[in-house]
Amino acid sequence: MSQTLEGKRELLLKLRHESELGGGEVRISKQHEQGKYTARERIERLVDPGTFLEFDRFVISKTASISKDQHFLGDGVVTGIAAINGQKVALYSQDFTCVGGSLGAAHAKKICKIMDFALENRIPVIGMNDSGGARIQEGVEALAGYGEIFYRNVKCSGVIPQISLIMGPCAGGAVYSPALTDFVFMVEGTSYMFVTGPDVIKTVTHEDVSKETLGGAHTHSETSGVAQFRVASEDECFERVRELLSYIPNANFTKPTPKYTSDTIYRDNLKIKETVPANPKKPYDMKEIIFDVVDDAQFLEVHKDYAKNIIVGFASVGGIKIGIVANQPAVLAGVLDIASSEKAARFVRFCDAFDIPILTLVDVPGFLPGTVQEYGGIIKHGSKLLYAYSEATVPLISIITRKSYGGAYLVMASKHIKTDVNLAYPTGEIAVMGAEGAINIVYRHELEGLAGKAFDDKKSSLIAKYEEDFANPYRAAELGFLDAVILPEETRKRVYEYLVALKNKKQEKPKRKHGNIQL
Ligand code: HXC
Repeated sequence: MSQTLEGKRELLLKLRHESELGGGEVRISKQHEQGKYTARERIERLVDPGTFLEFDRFVISKTASISKDQHFLGDGVVTGIAAINGQKVALYSQDFTCVGGSLGAAHAKKICKIMDFALENRIPVIGMNDSGGARIQEGVEALAGYGEIFYRNVKCSGVIPQISLIMGPCAGGAVYSPALTDFVFMVEGTSYMFVTGPDVIKTVTHEDVSKETLGGAHTHSETSGVAQFRVASEDECFERVRELLSYIPNANFTKPTPKYTSDTIYRDNLKIKETVPANPKKPYDMKEIIFDVVDDAQFLEVHKDYAKNIIVGFASVGGIKIGIVANQPAVLAGVLDIASSEKAARFVRFCDAFDIPILTLVDVPGFLPGTVQEYGGIIKHGSKLLYAYSEATVPLISIITRKSYGGAYLVMASKHIKTDVNLAYPTGEIAVMGAEGAINIVYRHELEGLAGKAFDDKKSSLIAKYEEDFANPYRAAELGFLDAVILPEETRKRVYEYLVALKNKKQEKPKRKHGNIQL
């Protein structure tokens, strides 16, 4: 049948329009009623205006078992490339209005195509997940599709940044694709992730639990640590993703671009002159130091609500983008435990994979003692952080602000695991342990026979002597384990100068297939 040029153009426009309708007006309204945007609206709001170039909008499911009214153009996922902050990204956005955004063979193939494109062209990939999971009617073909995606998630890991936005259901094995990516965002109230849902749990363990409590945004950002970011709305989610992308490169081995700042590089950090208290038992907020040192007080905290005894996130100093790892003395005295070790280790590995220098701020009394930690495997989880720092070849700078005791001293970017520049404030204390604990062990016999005032006096004098001998940074400085002792107000300019000096750092590692990190 021959068609006029006009007719051919009209056909394309008609098909485009049809694909834009997804599962139809009724289902789109339902999506909106639930406080969710559609797949296309999400892309529009996330990317730079007018930059989205769609792939495969006319793909349909070829599975015979799908009823005709479920053959939607695009097969329930919108894929393509666009720009964010002027940088190219690849993305996919599952369309819940088409068969519940469920994943069949054609849907999976589209996602795989866009992931392959992202990998070959070294651009980040962003996935917006809103799906009923494996498309039941497509059986093993749907499962195979997930397998292909998981495989690519692993292949892309450490080569291009991968970001998952959870904007609806994400259940069963489907959770493993986001779990394999670098950053997971969850939207409060409308997103959930779990391996088995409340009904299965009820049958198997007789536990009663709601979807929200089991796998909502609060649960995964505070309790399980599966999600690095919890946001109040989809709009906030897009804003945070754009902010995150402004700190990270498009791919590994990519020359870092400077971050725009109008902040003066050589300003003194007068605000934090007295932030660290003289009394080692007094808590303080490490974030005060971070905010004053970095450009424009801009710090994008990752895993903000999880393992708050350690802080990780992105910032820049003099326009140089960095990752920050910092003990938080305001929470559990900044102790290292299972959750905080894992959180920091994963962050250090991300920064190392993508050539982002790391600034470590140390105030750590040690590892958290107790059966909960020992039975939970603090030995293996703590070793992950030690491994991550020791393996890192990016520029590493550390500042001991106050305590740095025992094994935690070594783990937290010490000179002995090849940190490039180790600094301390005059309040720094590097020792095997704190004064009280040390006295109780070393002078137990001397103290045993004493009581009352005699005991108190003796103990106080032993503590004073211990503090004089060990609770300072100078013994480590004498041995070259610290490169310099600096005043807090000198922090910003020092960090900037060291970052510039370390710009061309190259460190060779022995050839191997891969190391064997304690997983
Ligand atoms: C086919 C599906 C589907 C699925 C939803 N739909 N999930 N179709 N396969 N997995 C369809 C529905 O039939 C419906 O079609 C439309 O999507 C919207 O679904 P509703 O149920 O009406 O929506 P809602 O009430 O909001 O409930 C959403 C839901 C529920 C909670 C996600 O649909 C649900 O429980 N789905 C099944 C979830 C599941 O168990 N998936 C398998 C997980 S295991 P119509 O035509 O009416 O619009 C898995 C394994 C992965 O994914 C393995 C990887 C290794």
